[in-house]
Amino acid sequence: MDRESDILAAESELYLPPAEVVAQAYIKDYDEVYEKAVQDPAAFWAERAQTLDWYEPWETVLDKSNPPFYKWFVGAKTNIAHNSLDRHVKTWRKNKLALIWEGEPGDQRTFSYYRLWQETCKFANVLRSMGVKKGDRVTIYMGRVPELPIAMLACAKIGAVHSVVYGGFSEQALADRIEDAQSRVLITQDGAWLRGKTVALKKTADEAIHRSPVVEHVIVVRRTGQDVYMEPGRDFWYDELMTLPIASPNCQTEVMDAEDPLFILYTSGTTGKPKGLLHTHGGYQVYTSTTLQWVFDLKEEDRWWCAADPGWITGHSYIVYAPLILGATSFMYEGAPTHPYPNRWWKMIENYGITVLYTAPTAIRGLMRFGDAWPNRHDLSSLRLLGSVGEPINPEAWRWYHRAIGKEKCPIMDTWWQTETGGFMITPLPSVPLKPGSATRPFPGIEADVVDEEGEPVAANEDGYLIVKHPWPGMARTVYGDPDRYIDQYWRRFQEKGYYLTGDSARKDDDGYFWVIGRIDDVIKVSGYRLGTAEIESALVSHEAVAEAAAIGIPDELRGNVIWAYCILRSGYEGNERLIDQLKDHVRHETGPIAVPAKIEFVNSLPKTRSGKIMRRVLKAQALGQDVGDISTLEA
Ligand code: WTA
Repeated sequence: MDRESDILAAESELYLPPAEVVAQAYIKDYDEVYEKAVQDPAAFWAERAQTLDWYEPWETVLDKSNPPFYKWFVGAKTNIAHNSLDRHVKTWRKNKLALIWEGEPGDQRTFSYYRLWQETCKFANVLRSMGVKKGDRVTIYMGRVPELPIAMLACAKIGAVHSVVYGGFSEQALADRIEDAQSRVLITQDGAWLRGKTVALKKTADEAIHRSPVVEHVIVVRRTGQDVYMEPGRDFWYDELMTLPIASPNCQTEVMDAEDPLFILYTSGTTGKPKGLLHTHGGYQVYTSTTLQWVFDLKEEDRWWCAADPGWITGHSYIVYAPLILGATSFMYEGAPTHPYPNRWWKMIENYGITVLYTAPTAIRGLMRFGDAWPNRHDLSSLRLLGSVGEPINPEAWRWYHRAIGKEKCPIMDTWWQTETGGFMITPLPSVPLKPGSATRPFPGIEADVVDEEGEPVAANEDGYLIVKHPWPGMARTVYGDPDRYIDQYWRRFQEKGYYLTGDSARKDDDGYFWVIGRIDDVIKVSGYRLGTAEIESALVSHEAVAEAAAIGIPDELRGNVIWAYCILRSGYEGNERLIDQLKDHVRHETGPIAVPAKIEFVNSLPKTRSGKIMRRVLKAQALGQDVGDISTLEA
């Protein structure tokens, strides 16, 4: 079935939540809670904030005096590390498992709240001994190992701002992010395990530092044991530092303003340079913990598995901070889902008794390919809820996930949100009836809508801009070092109405359910990863043979989208297979493996508007054999 007709069929498909799921859900009546939150958002969020610890209370819940620079819980003093760790070790949770970890080779480690707290305190002192102070930026370039959350929490504890760079990024992408954040300290690993092989993280880090020499100290976690270069006076082994007297377990948590920065996370936008979204301590902790608790109905006895990478917002919010704030037990896995066999995930669900699994459509489709026999070999009866994030989930994959993994008893929480939003925005709650492929309705406290060019709501079943009408506590506060860009990107479009522009298109059906269609800006989602066309294009034109390039996203069954690139060559270069391979390699080095085009074509010209903008939509229509639509602005 093609995608369109699959979605049409799904619209009339309704999955009612099983009675036992509703019986234990935190929120049993979505409409009632939603209505109450809409009436008075400030009161609603203040009530949620009361569930956390604050050193000092707020004076104002929401300060709207300088839009779009909204402030939450103004005047309050707090620290997210206090709510994630300090407060738990004073209770019975001291002995509860915070983190269960399995490495790709099969090794295991577990951390009680006490142990995680202690490691965090020790490492926080190590960072302090290197001169890291409140407000300083620390870049973290690691794989999925326990030291990654420890490093993030240690930064938060001393008031430093972490900037985690996904371990799949290349030296140039890492160098750009180090440079933008001006990080003097970099935390990395010798290497990471992936599909039975090692990825040389330290080597890439060395090259990045070479390009961006602001880094003074590098802390290296020993993981694979591979040979690495250690520069005397600059590079230190994590395990050695942690045995020194400076790594004392007594560490005072820095008292932060609610609005003090917690982290920067870079993401792709319409222009080449990645933008560093800035999140803060106060609002973010309230928003992530509330959304996780209500959407995934997390209970003390759960074993929660968010299978994302901590290098992305999903990992920040829902592997590290929200589960810890809630005092939950999280599971984290280092490697590839299909290593050494396609049953790896199902085997771990059985072994660890995972109760909630949260992953991305691309992973689901990838595992679905191997058929039912693999999950059927395992007892998956511990699961009670499933989740999806990162791109629209096609109804076919949804049904497979529901049937083969959830055995038709686990509702699927399809959560729509963004790096910018901090946490889930449009999402079911366990008590809400589901339609495969729809993220259903906005979370309580969130006013989302679909509007036309003028910002007026469109009729049911019509496409339009997905927008958010009212600020929420988890929203990014700015683009680091570039507030104008924050305004331009997200607020300029509907400035008068004060709407937040998501960059996605969507439609609402007759029941008010949201169907997110995809990006309308120049962002491509490949395997759920977010890439800007400009990033790919600038990587291509930085190669000596390429004069001009255009990149587009083409729908792909497995990966959601793949990249196709069109290049105009400089004179004297010949477009052949060898050059295609060279260009792919070049992009891999400049940006990373996820940015490598699936197809590169050499062309003599690119469709452009009279003002010189590349019309990617024309290229895409041509590639897909569709009508190119209105090309009245096309250059003659
Ligand atoms: C897309 C990831 C449809 C969307 C948390 C958004 C989704 C972008 C969904 C943000 C979903 C995320 N259904 N589309 N459930 N979740 N998206 O910043 O296009 O990496 O704008 O955050 O992913 O990607 P980001």
